[in-house]
Amino acid sequence: EKAAGGYEILESKVLAPNFHSIKIKAPDMAKYAKAGQFAILMANEKSERSPFTIIDWSAEEGWVQFVFEEVGRSSAELGSLSKGDFLASASGPLGTPFDFSNFKEGQKVLLMGGCYGIAAIYPVARELKKMGVKTAIAIEASTSFMLFFEDKLKTVADEFIVLTRDGTKGIKGGCSNVYEKRGGEFDAAIAVGCVFMMKQCSKFASKTPLSLCSLNPIMVDGTGMCGACRVSLDGETKFACVDGPFFDLGKVDFNELAKRRTAYSLLEIDAMPRHLH
Ligand code: FES
Repeated sequence: EKAAGGYEILESKVLAPNFHSIKIKAPDMAKYAKAGQFAILMANEKSERSPFTIIDWSAEEGWVQFVFEEVGRSSAELGSLSKGDFLASASGPLGTPFDFSNFKEGQKVLLMGGCYGIAAIYPVARELKKMGVKTAIAIEASTSFMLFFEDKLKTVADEFIVLTRDGTKGIKGGCSNVYEKRGGEFDAAIAVGCVFMMKQCSKFASKTPLSLCSLNPIMVDGTGMCGACRVSLDGETKFACVDGPFFDLGKVDFNELAKRRTAYSLLEIDAMPRHLH
């Protein structure tokens, strides 16, 4: 709640090296949150405004959960907060909720998650499963100890596939290998993760009648006013904060997205206080 100078952290956990989960008290956000939406969080008044997918929430208990990777100053600041601390600001839910009207009972959907996407596919998978859609969830990480959320994802998966780049757990490789080999079995595929992972998956977008990804570019206002989050789809400009975050996987210009993100992360790392370097 806004009282006492911000939003109280109810739980803070390290899921894997550099990956954190926080639950914050935010009854209004919890009441209106829908799968696929995000919030812009600021650890303190001076933090960057960064978007984070809403992973889980409870309207009854008034909390929302976020999972993020520590990649720069703003996420490091968030990661340094503990239970009982307060976030300066949390605006949301933002973005267009995931469109479930494209899905029907009995369909088969492949959900692919890497990095924070391992957590971000959870609310979408949960809703699809509730609708009677058969969910196959594939998650990837560089190595076994970077995996997380496995038990939680299994509760919403009809099939669960683990991949590691170094082969230390599950199948050796990435989600795109599953999409390439088995894409034809599915009515839709959804990829959420780092730009590299989604770009790999996008090569096989034509394997399924519907293919989607969730984009997480730089955002400032989160309301379609500043243009910071613009992305190109088949040459058309869209704003991820209001038109997304979900877009047609086969149409996104991932090279442009990667360039814009890299430019940003260098600035972010520069902005980190010395003690965090
Ligand atoms: Fe400003 Fe999307 S964040 S337009």
